[in-house]
Amino acid sequence: MNLFDLTNKKGIVTGGMQGLGRAMAQALSAYGCELVIMDINPDTPKMAKEICAGPAPVHGVACDLSDENSLKEGFEKALNLLGGELHILLNNAGINLRKKLEDCSKVDWDRMFSINSTAPFLLTKLAAPIMRAQHYGKIINMASMLAFLGAVNNSSYAATKGSVLLQTRSFSNELAKDGICVNAIAPGYFHTELNSPEKMLLIGEDFLKSINMRIPAGRWGEPEDLQGTVVFLASPASDYVTGACINVDGGYLHR
Ligand SMILES: NC(=O)c1ccc[n+]([C@@H]2O[C@H](COP(=O)([O-])OP(=O)(O)OC[C@H]3O[C@@H](n4cnc5c(N)ncnc54)[C@H](O)[C@@H]3O)[C@@H](O)[C@H]2O)c1
Repeated sequence: MNLFDLTNKKGIVTGGMQGLGRAMAQALSAYGCELVIMDINPDTPKMAKEICAGPAPVHGVACDLSDENSLKEGFEKALNLLGGELHILLNNAGINLRKKLEDCSKVDWDRMFSINSTAPFLLTKLAAPIMRAQHYGKIINMASMLAFLGAVNNSSYAATKGSVLLQTRSFSNELAKDGICVNAIAPGYFHTELNSPEKMLLIGEDFLKSINMRIPAGRWGEPEDLQGTVVFLASPASDYVTGACINVDGGYLHR
């Protein structure tokens, strides 16, 4: 028995061309999942298969998840590539504009929500009927520990992640009876293009110091630190886990 086996499973990973999504796509692929990476990067169709070395095919679809038509078209293409089956949806794509209240326009606020919160909602809505027909599905959303803490000078990001957390819990309530688990991951501070000590240093040396001092594990996360959690949430090992949020933060949140 291998509770973590993903052989014959088919999945979509959004924002899988780099950072956390890339590392999680590599893990799902290594455990046997056939994947489509949906990303705004125009090289996605060409490059996706080079990212993962797993036994099942890996495809790529370029689309802009902030645009509903592009998202829907991208999802249709992805579903065709997967032969109409979908077991795993990893809503990972996200942005962080990092603006204080007085600098954050409505355009900024709406853009943050469209990618971080509305896209997971729309993709969940598209995936649910397919997963319901199979009586099996795993939807995994990327929240953040800022969903619990609030942010400093970055309220739109925290607001989108609070929304991700609450849509996870609410969709779980609606979909659990159909065999669909909806869970979230709340990463702490991870080295990626979106976040890094160098970026925090631009905000201030004291700010970076206060972050580093609060991480009980004594280091920032690396994208590979999320691989075990995503395989757990995507696999039969977590079939009775739904509506949950797993913090992967080196202990930051409870310090
Ligand atoms: N890095 C961290 O410390 C951290 C902490 C908590 C949560 N997160 C969350 O994890 C997720 C991944 O973050 P990351 O650090 O890997 O970021 P990243 O910037 O390295 O990667 C984001 C990916 O999303 C894609 N993307 C961006 N806009 C898109 C759009 N409109 N349509 C389609 N694809 C788009 C990018 O091309 C990229 O491949 C995000 O949801 C982020 O909020 C990150």
